[in-house]
Order: sequence, then structure tokens, then C-alpha cells
Amino acid sequence: MKKILAPSILSADFGNLSDQIKLVQNAGAGFIHCDIMDGRFVPNITFGSLIVEAAKKSTTLPLDVHLMIVEPHLHLDSFLKAGADILTVQFEAVTHLDRVINQIKEGGAKAGVAINPGTPVDLLSEVLEIIDLVLVMSVNPGFGGQKFIPNAVKKIEKLAELRDEMGLNFMIEVDGGINLQTAPIVAAAGADVLVAGSAVYNSANVTETIKNFLKIINHRG
Ligand code: DX5
Ligand code: ZN
Repeated sequence: MKKILAPSILSADFGNLSDQIKLVQNAGAGFIHCDIMDGRFVPNITFGSLIVEAAKKSTTLPLDVHLMIVEPHLHLDSFLKAGADILTVQFEAVTHLDRVINQIKEGGAKAGVAINPGTPVDLLSEVLEIIDLVLVMSVNPGFGGQKFIPNAVKKIEKLAELRDEMGLNFMIEVDGGINLQTAPIVAAAGADVLVAGSAVYNSANVTETIKNFLKIINHRG
């Protein structure tokens, strides 16, 4: 399967959001990653479902919505209505994980669970069979432009192994500090979806950067 690049609009120019989304779609991006922060689970506040709804109108790509918020069960419906195709909650923010996963799937989206750098893969063992995606955080969530934390690599490898052993097909996504140097490492470890915010949107030539990413992450075939 071809690996997917998911640019995070967190680092985009919000004054021209529609054009910034079209730009990455035309260059070959596979998902549009939307980082939702609430100022409680993480220190920063970003945007809510209104912007997700606006993003939906600007692209035919799946919207990959990453909720870094406390009590996500209270907000699932509004993000589903806004057009989230993949809805990912942070493991650390959820009490009734099984229920939340089912709520997302019943709402018609794919369900993802994200784990922080300090959260072990093992804690997902009871839900791997019912989720569509695991998001391995390679920074502590809260800000774009942070440095890659290397323990993500062995977590990705472990998930890829478990997926094989258990005969499952959830996607493995990685998010934080992904650039042209770290991308080949996480791709080789088994990541299927690579999120990149600042490395894409802060680059001098966004189209060229995306093409370089795709070349590097798919060169193993
Ligand atoms: C981290 C967010 C990421 C982040 C990625 O809190 O979940 O999606 O914006 O940004 P870069 O690629 O700049 O690390
Ligand atoms: Zn994210």
C-alpha cells in the first residue's frame, strides 16, 4: 500500500485556508490533518468544528481530525457533522474508550486512537481489533514545529508486528517533528500515514516539498 502524507493545516496561513488546502491536495497529499486543541488537554487553543466544516468544502481528500481535547465524547457529533472522515481521540483524555470508538464508527467515520510519547502501545491491546487507526505521537502534543522524539520508532515497529500477528489492518500514523530527515525512518518502521505541519507549510516551495516527501516515503515500494 502506498504511504500517505497528511499535511497539518495547523501551520497553514489561515487567511488563505482554502487555497492552502488545495495547494497540498494538488501536490499529492493523501489526507488533510486538522489539529483540534482546547487549552486544557494541551496548553494551546486552535480551532473547532467550524473550521473543519470550511476545510471540508475546500477538498475532496479525507479529513483526518485529531482531537487533543478533554472529554472528547461531548464533541464527537459536531466534528462528525462537520465532515470528519477519520476522528482520532487521545487515549489519555478518554475514560470510556470502547464507547467513544463505537460512537465514532456509528457516526460513519473511521475511529483512531492517539498515544502520547509517554503512553505505551500495550495499553491499546483491548481495542486494536475495533479501531481503524493508531496515531503514534512523536512529540508531546500542543504545538507545531517541535523536535521528533525517537521512542516513536519502536512503538511503530511494535504496532506493525502486532498488526501482523493479530491479522488486523488498522493504519499506523505518526505525528510530530516529521520532516525529510525523520520521514524515511518512520516509514521504514512501518508508518502508513505521516503527518507533517511545519515541514510542509513553512517550506519555501510546498509543492516541491510534498513531492520530495512522497518520493522518500514510497521509495521502498
Ligand atoms: C502536535 C500536533 C501535530 C503538529 C505537527 O501537537 O498534533 O499535528 O501540528 O506539527 P509539526 O509537523 O510541525 O511537528
Ligand atoms: Zn495532529
